[in-house]
Amino acid sequence: MKFFIDSADVNEIREAKDLGIADGVTTNPTLIAKSGKDLKEVVEQVSAEIDGPIFAEVISLDEQGILKEGYEMAKWSDQVVVKIPATIEGLKAARKLEADGIRTGITLIFSPSQALLAAKSGASYVIPFVGRLDDVSSDGLELVSQVVDIFVNYPELESEVLAASVRHPMHILDCALMGVDIVTAPLSVYKQLIKHPLTDAGIERFLKDWEKVKK
Ligand code: G3P
Repeated sequence: MKFFIDSADVNEIREAKDLGIADGVTTNPTLIAKSGKDLKEVVEQVSAEIDGPIFAEVISLDEQGILKEGYEMAKWSDQVVVKIPATIEGLKAARKLEADGIRTGITLIFSPSQALLAAKSGASYVIPFVGRLDDVSSDGLELVSQVVDIFVNYPELESEVLAASVRHPMHILDCALMGVDIVTAPLSVYKQLIKHPLTDAGIERFLKDWEKVKK
């Protein structure tokens, strides 16, 4: 399973790299706006930190606008993956970009049917959102499970499944148990994977027992 960092904060990405969990980086317009930098500057800074894919999302909604942005982004780095919302215009643009060797990720996927059509378009990645479905009392992990099942049924669908909107360690664990190719999350979520109260209690016990016999 690949771990991508969902962030435009270079310091967070650098810390993740030091932990060996920066297989790639995903951004979105909200994260870029929060960074206070422009998208190209973020891509260039992240490209200096990691070797993996860097997802940069388009703003245009029409095919020609998406293509214009996508071809421009591809000039910035060969690590760029053009992130495109799941729409008909977006899939048409993704097909053309992929034909020209530019990888695309179809994002804002909230149903298995969207993922199926996105994969048929030839997108390199399909990006189902987990947390935002949970936020509206739907089952985000069920979506991911259905997408994985579809892709197992049809090996000719070559897109990688990138689970996004991952909000806590159980999302990551459940995605791993399903065989999801990639998850993307903030570094803080990955850090929670290592936490266990019995580990803390065990360390405390060992140290106390050691203190008793230390010369
Ligand atoms: O970047 C796409 C996705 O990971 C966003 O997550 O938490 O804003 O729903 P979130």
